[in-house]
Amino acid sequence: MTKKVSRIGVLTSGGDAPGMNAAIRAVVRTSLYYGLEVYGIMRGYQGIIDEDIFKMEGRSVANIIQRGGTILKTARCKEFYEAEGRRKAYENLKKRGIDGLVIIGGDGSFRGAVKFSQEYDIPCIGIAGTIDKDIHGSDYTIGFDTAVNTAIQAIDKIRDTMDAHDRIFIIEVMGRDAGYIALHSGIATGAENILIPERKTNIKDIIHSLQEKERRKKLVNLIVVAEGDEFGGAVEVEKILKEHLPKAEIRVAILGHIQRGGSPTGIDRLIASRMGYHAVECLMEGKHNVFVGILNNRMHYIPLEKAVKNKGSISEEWMKIVKILAS
Ligand code: F6P
Repeated sequence: MTKKVSRIGVLTSGGDAPGMNAAIRAVVRTSLYYGLEVYGIMRGYQGIIDEDIFKMEGRSVANIIQRGGTILKTARCKEFYEAEGRRKAYENLKKRGIDGLVIIGGDGSFRGAVKFSQEYDIPCIGIAGTIDKDIHGSDYTIGFDTAVNTAIQAIDKIRDTMDAHDRIFIIEVMGRDAGYIALHSGIATGAENILIPERKTNIKDIIHSLQEKERRKKLVNLIVVAEGDEFGGAVEVEKILKEHLPKAEIRVAILGHIQRGGSPTGIDRLIASRMGYHAVECLMEGKHNVFVGILNNRMHYIPLEKAVKNKGSISEEWMKIVKILAS
């Protein structure tokens, strides 16, 4: 294969996600295998602007596959969204002869890459890394499976105490714009109600069913809420419920950043390794401005623009499953 690149830069950007280290490892080891030089860029796009860039070797990524976080650190870089920031970044990459970029991150990071690639001739390959799974065009994103499993473990524990006290629990999971963590962890823990940003919630129905349970003296109920739901998260939902169920014992638990950390699951390590390998292959084949996604267990190369333009949707069927299984 004729190599279209010789020096690859790799960075992690946006919210970190368990499995990013496994992806970095795969990018570095695959690059070295093919005789390419590979450079680690610290703190996402900020590291390109600040010239915080270092050469990586095989040993730079030893013993990291099992670690959460990212050895390259991460940031949300405002400067890169301005033309001047991108110009600086381009000059710094050119100066070092870096002729291909691998960006491990979510839709915000891909948005930056789209702009950069429209202006400059350095190919960018994205790797879908976000616990939110809100990148259109991939069944998986790195970190999602770990985050869901972390949420499940926490919710299972809360369920024990909820049940012992006959309480209503409202558990908030992450997901500013996406309800996948709420949906998956909620179904897997048998939640009665799941509130997500993608779909309208009939709060009257929920109140009615809770009042009915109260009447039957069986008021125990698990509600999983994505932080970005239409009411504004668990605390707001609690306020609404309290108005209509003044005697009920309602408790709120916000799981927060615990969902972003920890050792990645087998699935996250595996998809990160596959995506990292394929990202390097993409650059070598001369592909540019696509991200590596997985659809039906096969690798797909999807234009970065598509990932940022399309919003994911959650089908009615999922909500039907929630309702039927909770009845
Ligand atoms: O994008 C991942 C995510 O964890 C979202 O689910 C959450 O809303 C956001 O990041 C939190 O960001 P920060 O760590 O900057 O508070």
